[in-house]
Amino acid sequence: MSGADGSGGSFGSSASEVPPMVRTPVPASEPIPFRKREEEVQNNVVSTSSASGTVDAKAEIGPTGRPLPHFDDPKPLTTHGNARIISMCNQKGGVGKTTTTINLGAALAEFGRKVLLVDFDPQGSLSVGLGLNPHQMDLSIYNLLMQRDVTLDEVIVPTNVPGMDLLPSNIDLSAAEVQLVHEVAREQTLQRVLAPAIAKYDVILIDCQPSLGLLTVNALTASDGVIVPLECEYFALRGVALLKTTIDKVRERLNPRLQIEGVLGTMYDGRTLHTREVMERLVQAWGDTVFHTVIRRTIKFSDSTVAGEPITSYASASTGAESYRELAREVAARCLDG
Ligand SMILES: Nc1ncnc2c1ncn2[C@@H]1O[C@H](COP(=O)(O)OP(=O)(O)OP(=O)(O)O)[C@@H](O)[C@H]1O
Ligand SMILES: [Mg+2]
Repeated sequence: MSGADGSGGSFGSSASEVPPMVRTPVPASEPIPFRKREEEVQNNVVSTSSASGTVDAKAEIGPTGRPLPHFDDPKPLTTHGNARIISMCNQKGGVGKTTTTINLGAALAEFGRKVLLVDFDPQGSLSVGLGLNPHQMDLSIYNLLMQRDVTLDEVIVPTNVPGMDLLPSNIDLSAAEVQLVHEVAREQTLQRVLAPAIAKYDVILIDCQPSLGLLTVNALTASDGVIVPLECEYFALRGVALLKTTIDKVRERLNPRLQIEGVLGTMYDGRTLHTREVMERLVQAWGDTVFHTVIRRTIKFSDSTVAGEPITSYASASTGAESYRELAREVAARCLDG
């Protein structure tokens, strides 16, 4: 599920290396470097259908510069369980991990999936973003990780979104990072505590902290897949090779089933050439690993965080809410309903 070989792309031979973006002058009226692909699509005669959606012969060019497939709503479910566990991971801060966890989760719940969100960041932003007070938590994921007598059901709280629950966190979790170092099988601790939830939920989304430390390695070890939210900004590309190296190491040493589900362009602003160039660069490096869906930049996300609810309920008809519904369709087509 990735560039050409199913393993994801790379930005250069070393983790810190990013080839410069070469800017070719484009007349202002042209819709920029995707022209050739547009012609290619028009020459296509048949529709193609796959887990990546249906591409119509006359498909418009999407924000990632590729023909935009159509994604159906996820199929209704009659039974629940056998959850797929997906981590939102990027060691760069402020790229939209928490926003994606809340809103992708809420959108999947709207489509009838039973969703568990796991706040695995001591900042507790996911919990706060769902209206919890970090100072008034009797139990948090810290207790679940460190105390054998605490059960999952004691820590899980329902959210205001029907079908979506939360494992909350607060600053206590930062102590776990230090204490886990001395534990046996320290990288598998989250996997062990989440195991009983797999039978109850369809999707478990883990919101990682912005680091590649032991907590994030725990999240990757517990996961079937990773979504990498990435701000559509040039410097955002720089850390991705290091993230990919970490994911590869976890896959080799701890969790052979770990896949990159996709790279998600966030804070997309199609009016700027810069955003579109970053997107083009991303697609060159990662191919079809890049989600067709992008999340546009809008102030509504910050507003909904203040309101303590997902954008899908705070501003249900907004572009942001619709983008996350579209992401839910694409994620379902890629890795949930397959
Ligand atoms: N598409 C968007 N458009 C505009 N603002 C956004 C968008 N997505 C997220 N934001 C805002 O950007 C800020 C950072 O987003 P978020 O907290 O989701 O990032 P993060 O990667 O989880 O950050 P951290 O690494 O600190 O955990 C928040 O204020 C959020 O409301
Ligand atoms: Mg966050």
